[in-house]
Amino acid sequence: MKIALGVSGGIAAYKAAEICRLLQERGIRVQVIMTRAAQEFVRPLTFAALSGEKVITGLFGAGAETPNIESAVEHIAVAQSIDALLVAPATADVLGKFANGLADDFLSTLFLATTAPVVVAPAMNVNMWENAATQANLEKLKARGVRIVEPDAGYLACGMTGPGRLAANEAIVAAALEALGARQDLGGETVLITAGPTREKIDPVRYLGNRSSGRMGYALAEAALRRGAHVILVSGPVAIKPPAVQELVAVETTEEMRREVVARLAQASIIIKAAAVADFTIKRPADQKLKRKGAITLELEPTSDILAEIGRSKKQEQILAGFAAETENVLENARKKLKEKNCDLIVVNDVSQPGIGFDSERNAVTIITGNEQGEAKIENIAESSKWEVAHRVFDAVVHIRQRKKKGSPVKIV
Ligand code: CTP
Repeated sequence: MKIALGVSGGIAAYKAAEICRLLQERGIRVQVIMTRAAQEFVRPLTFAALSGEKVITGLFGAGAETPNIESAVEHIAVAQSIDALLVAPATADVLGKFANGLADDFLSTLFLATTAPVVVAPAMNVNMWENAATQANLEKLKARGVRIVEPDAGYLACGMTGPGRLAANEAIVAAALEALGARQDLGGETVLITAGPTREKIDPVRYLGNRSSGRMGYALAEAALRRGAHVILVSGPVAIKPPAVQELVAVETTEEMRREVVARLAQASIIIKAAAVADFTIKRPADQKLKRKGAITLELEPTSDILAEIGRSKKQEQILAGFAAETENVLENARKKLKEKNCDLIVVNDVSQPGIGFDSERNAVTIITGNEQGEAKIENIAESSKWEVAHRVFDAVVHIRQRKKKGSPVKIV
């Protein structure tokens, strides 16, 4: 999920730094756009450091010193890539531009060019707020579907008291989240997600397991819910709280996971296999606890490959996404899995990298899909929260859905 945060020139511009941070904590990517006046109050560097993205400060590219064709059309690219536009603080000048269709800087141009929902949080002197021109502009914007987070009343920086103070950060963030949720691009889809590890029994007290925490699968379930899907979560044993999905199925072994997934396949329009499924099971688990009498040998046999089984039986309109945990030849192995398991998309984890992936809040992945020419399309997602990665996975899924609807090919040949 990505939001554009427009910061315009008022004393409250410093509060936008905290708003930026609050949005990021929720896994939302923030693209900051500052008007010229805003830069008089806060330096772009503050927002660049917080958001990890370059700050847009002019109509002709970030620095605007060497305008080129890419930067000249950047507002269109940004307009198409965002899920919402939030302007906080919004000055009387910005409201006037938005209401009257002026487009003489990046922010006002973006406002005209985007179809994403828009939220504005005005802040200004009380007389400016109460001025008939400002109120008329607000009415126009409201009538066009712009959400206004009304300013609070109180002591203002200009020394006056009354309405005009930027609303509380929490109220602004809540409105922005609501606007982001307004994009229900998984509405009508039933998403079946597997998460966590599976465990294979050695004896009544011991098992063969792996380090999966379930966080990636749970983040996917949460993101799918937020985007309007009906979610079925088939989860191996994990220690984290599940999101409020419509159906939660707890399993332990690979065979149980296979059974529960297969039983629900017909209902699912999107299947995401994020579980770290045990690749081996114990051939003859002991009925009694094994005694420590010396060395023992466990005979392992491969489990059934659930993803490959779904790949073989899946219907044309179903979208199947697999995960691949790799430690070497990462892309090559993942492409092989994508093809062999008949997936529409594969999310590759390089599990040899420390601090990400298994048992971590964060992840860095590569998403591989097929393009219309049947070649691999590779999208690298730099280290980010699993919530952010989950949304990027669904962005790719939504893209595949649109192409399937148009009848375009999606597979690697
Ligand atoms: N998977 C599965 N059933 C298995 C093993 C794996 O459904 N018995 C799924 C995983 O959920 C994941 C994908 O297959 O979506 C790839 O898992 P991974 O462990 O990377 O690959 P494997 O197919 O097990 O191949 P290998 O371990 O040999 O790399």
